[in-house]
Amino acid sequence: MPKIILTGDRPTGRLHVGHYVGSLKERVRLQNSGLYDKIFIMIADAQALTDNAEQPEKVRQNIIEVALDYLSCGLDPKLSTMLIQSQIPELCELSFYYMNLVTVSRLQRNPTVKAEIQMRNFEASIPVGFFTYPISQAADITAFRATTVPVGEDQLPMIEQTREIVRKFASIYGDVLVEPEGMLSGNKACLRLPGIDGKAKMSKSLNNCIYLSDSEEEVRKKVMSMFTDPNHLQVSDPGQVEGNPVFIYLDAFCQEGMFEEYLPEYASLEELKAHYTRGGLGDVKVKKFLDKVLQEALSPIRARRKEWEKDIPAVYEILKKGSQEARETAARTLDDVKKAMKINYFDDQALIAGQAKKYAVTE
Ligand code: TRP
Repeated sequence: MPKIILTGDRPTGRLHVGHYVGSLKERVRLQNSGLYDKIFIMIADAQALTDNAEQPEKVRQNIIEVALDYLSCGLDPKLSTMLIQSQIPELCELSFYYMNLVTVSRLQRNPTVKAEIQMRNFEASIPVGFFTYPISQAADITAFRATTVPVGEDQLPMIEQTREIVRKFASIYGDVLVEPEGMLSGNKACLRLPGIDGKAKMSKSLNNCIYLSDSEEEVRKKVMSMFTDPNHLQVSDPGQVEGNPVFIYLDAFCQEGMFEEYLPEYASLEELKAHYTRGGLGDVKVKKFLDKVLQEALSPIRARRKEWEKDIPAVYEILKKGSQEARETAARTLDDVKKAMKINYFDDQALIAGQAKKYAVTE
């Protein structure tokens, strides 16, 4: 069986360093590993509309932002097919048929949907499209026969839901779809970056993100304003490293050789942490180091973005070509699904002949 990756993002904003360590970096690594037969990266605009129905312009504007972020991180259109979800109508058809295989109570129990309903204050009136988006995500995954879905932890219930749909489909209609596996990023420290304000998650509405497209100056300003240990008031005070965003970012971004280059008084992150914990190490010094570390990671990304920004029509062309190719793949899966579901009447000569025979007038 070919090894196929599908993953994607909702285009509701520019991508930030949390996306980078949580998924983009890993995608580029998987892309360049040569271990996969096919990689699809989806800009999930239709899904974004399930909770942004009233903001079509926001979704429209962010398609190019997300595409630029992909390309600047090193996703390569020669190796990965980038597509826009809404341009593949076959996904809607698949979703419609999968809806018969999922109960309302099962959707209500989906932990991701549950959390998101709370987050959006949807309790009183949940849009049906939003409520059923796990089904549409199952269509995304199965349409491309994905075997591997690299995602953040919060998306694992979506993969589980997809696997259930695949099994249910197989039990009724036969073995047509592929059961996918979720794949979490290898580095534990990378799973989730807190916001620069110390809140659990980076989010545009909290205004606590460092974006991949931020300028050098913006990144520096944000780093210098970062929340640290609130009890570490004076340099001499002992400080806490656990849960301290500055150290969490260092865990995620600091690489060998960076101390030698930017902070040679310390041999390693362990030493730096030990000093902070003991007391005697000021936040400003750690933040200045983090700024250097982050700039080193972000400057090649920024430079590639600048190049792509010079040819925006080419980026749209990449998405158009990718969507066309993706559509062909999805159409083949849909054909198989319809055949298995016995709704392929006109392709089925045996059906037509059989019915003709049944009604043939015998003289
Ligand atoms: N739900 C994902 C998110 O919010 C985006 C997404 C849509 C996705 N379809 C997908 C991810 C299919 C993986 C596979 O980030």
